[in-house]
Amino acid sequence: MLKRLVSANCSLSIGSNSTNGNFLLTATPVVVDGNSFALHGNNVSYCFHADESTGDLLSDHFGGSVTGPIPPDPTPIVNGWTGMLGRVRREFPDQGRGDFRGPAIRIRQSGAHTVSALHYQHHTVVKGKPALPGLPATFGNEDEVTTIVIHLYDKYSTIAADLMYSVFPRYDAIVRSVTVTNKGKGAIVIEDLASLSVDLPFEDLDMIYLRGEWARETHRQRRRIDYGLQGFRSNTGFSSHSHNPFLALARPSTTENQGETWGFSLVYTGSFAVNVEKCSQGLTRVLMGFNPDQLSWSLGPDESLTSPECVSVYSKEGLGGVSRSLHGLYRNHLVKSKFATEDRPVLLNSWEALYFNINSSNLYRIAQESASLGVKLFVMDDGWFGKDYPRVSDTAGLGDWIPNPKRFPGGLAPLVKDITALKSAVAESDKSSANLRFGIWIEPEMINSSSTLYQEHPEWALYADQYPRTEQRNQLILNLALPEVQNFIITCVSDILSSADITYVKWDHNRCMHETPSPTTHHAYMLGVYRVFETLTTRFPDVLWEGCASGGGRFDPGVMQYFPQIWTSDNTDAVDRIFIQFGTSLAYPASSMCGHISAVPNHQTGRTVQIEFRAHVAMMCGSFGLELDPTELHPDERAVVPELIALAEKVNPIVLTGDMWRLSLPEESDWPAMLFISKNASQAVLFYYQLGSKVNHALSRVRLQGLDAQDMYFVDGEGPYSGAMLMSMGLQYCFETDYGSKVVFLEKDSSH
Ligand code: GLA
Repeated sequence: MLKRLVSANCSLSIGSNSTNGNFLLTATPVVVDGNSFALHGNNVSYCFHADESTGDLLSDHFGGSVTGPIPPDPTPIVNGWTGMLGRVRREFPDQGRGDFRGPAIRIRQSGAHTVSALHYQHHTVVKGKPALPGLPATFGNEDEVTTIVIHLYDKYSTIAADLMYSVFPRYDAIVRSVTVTNKGKGAIVIEDLASLSVDLPFEDLDMIYLRGEWARETHRQRRRIDYGLQGFRSNTGFSSHSHNPFLALARPSTTENQGETWGFSLVYTGSFAVNVEKCSQGLTRVLMGFNPDQLSWSLGPDESLTSPECVSVYSKEGLGGVSRSLHGLYRNHLVKSKFATEDRPVLLNSWEALYFNINSSNLYRIAQESASLGVKLFVMDDGWFGKDYPRVSDTAGLGDWIPNPKRFPGGLAPLVKDITALKSAVAESDKSSANLRFGIWIEPEMINSSSTLYQEHPEWALYADQYPRTEQRNQLILNLALPEVQNFIITCVSDILSSADITYVKWDHNRCMHETPSPTTHHAYMLGVYRVFETLTTRFPDVLWEGCASGGGRFDPGVMQYFPQIWTSDNTDAVDRIFIQFGTSLAYPASSMCGHISAVPNHQTGRTVQIEFRAHVAMMCGSFGLELDPTELHPDERAVVPELIALAEKVNPIVLTGDMWRLSLPEESDWPAMLFISKNASQAVLFYYQLGSKVNHALSRVRLQGLDAQDMYFVDGEGPYSGAMLMSMGLQYCFETDYGSKVVFLEKDSSH
């Protein structure tokens, strides 16, 4: 057995630590020793090698930092007949050679069988990270990320597979994608391809993931991994409300704050599959990538298919550690928008205020009122377009992106001009005056059969031969795999944005894919969507783009590459939102979430909660706003809105860029709490809630985390108290009713 070196290289380079800004000595991120490879983050090592005799790629370690040689695996004793490969940790398991677990790649060869033998050929180390063709991907410069490409080759079928691994040491993140190329003369079909495949040498693990439904997205699930296959997938054609492309594995003893945790996050917006397989021989395999039901990707000679990339992070600081790594990575190395970490304007969205009943006069009326409350951005939602098939309900108009002439006789420009002339009332502390900005809702990937576009181009909708075209919300989907459809959308959206001073777009997507011309349409559609997103966001870099898919149906890292914020759920009930936002935060930073104060009784749940609670929950999101008719606010509510807006603006920079600590979970406590600590650690903001009130109960206590124990902090101006005290004793607050809430400011005592 070969001796494998993990870190023979003693040269050290300077890197910086993610949480406290101290500089750490970081080992060289990629170390190659013969046919052994190691990727090192500040606190993670990922090691594998090519077997000298077979050329198979085998995994050695994915976990805490290690140095020096890895002890060799003992040669297994083969009792029984299931074969050797089932006992081996394989880095990129192909099919048909005696490994009976799920494969990372299944190729239908031109001879119709699915056997392949992808063996190590050579490797290339690259400083920085090459882009993925047509796909969203993390990025970084030469000091931030290093890449190694392992070139595999199947000499029998002349198929090549390049595994690209990039390590972002500061975030303990290893990112992998794979490109398969047909170097033969016949056609092959890629039936299955996982971006991530990892065999962990443990049997006792829990899996944590996010499940849900429309208006009930991202509810956290945790369960013990059992023997056999388990997992989840989206078949919907988008990442979906049902399951999010995120998975964590953890030791059974792992908590929010401690214990080994592995997090996996797929940078993709289409259907996906996650498979976790515990085998009887002590290994747990994780596969994450394309959904094989919707792939069947044909490759002619010299053609390639690149998988989306999967981000893997490792932390000994529990689920919170995994979340903070992903948040930092995504804020700094995924979101391309200039608004990634910029303060977001407080907005008012017309949807729950007026639904489809909009026109220039009622919009102007509520825009005026919004401005007087301190709102900075007014958003006109659905219902503004369609001429011959006006969009006055959800039955018509999608595809006809021209303003409804009855509702907007002069087009949009006069309304936008009037609204952007309104001065927003600003917080006392802010002496500058700001004009209201204007934003718009669009759903360009869709078409109603009642539309001029459908009369002209029925063939642009997705359909399968003569089968009926199933409508959902009375609409069909345009086939974005077609370049002419992509170009049509790019032109329509560019025209809208050039027609008036529009600086925000909410891009919606409100149905699943049913009939598709071929299984490959799903991925071809996604490549089309990404081309459209890339073109438009590059063409209009000053527009703040927000993603949406009936709420959080497309809350995924693929969308985040282009749109820095995503409408998190159509459920605006603040109590439900706590669960949804805490769940979403497992993988996604607060900067990507949107929360709005809506009217009571809530339109989805019928619940009535205080306006302070509604606002405090919404301001845990990077984008805070209102979604109600401000002219109908009760005078008591109206009176407090300006100060709630001022508070939201005050916390916004910390929420957008700070480190997030989930102090107690709504699933486990009546007092959920979340803390954000600013980037330079000088400020923090605590969000603390009471869900149900209890008579004569002990006072709730929240113990803070992540502070510097030696430092002193003022808590809402009181104190200072030591970080150690705040973390071990904590703070106590008295709530008197259901749905109590507190937003508490901490400021480091600079004199200390
Ligand atoms: C979806 C969105 C809502 C709203 C409506 C408009 O449901 O999630 O916020 O924009 O569409 O039709």
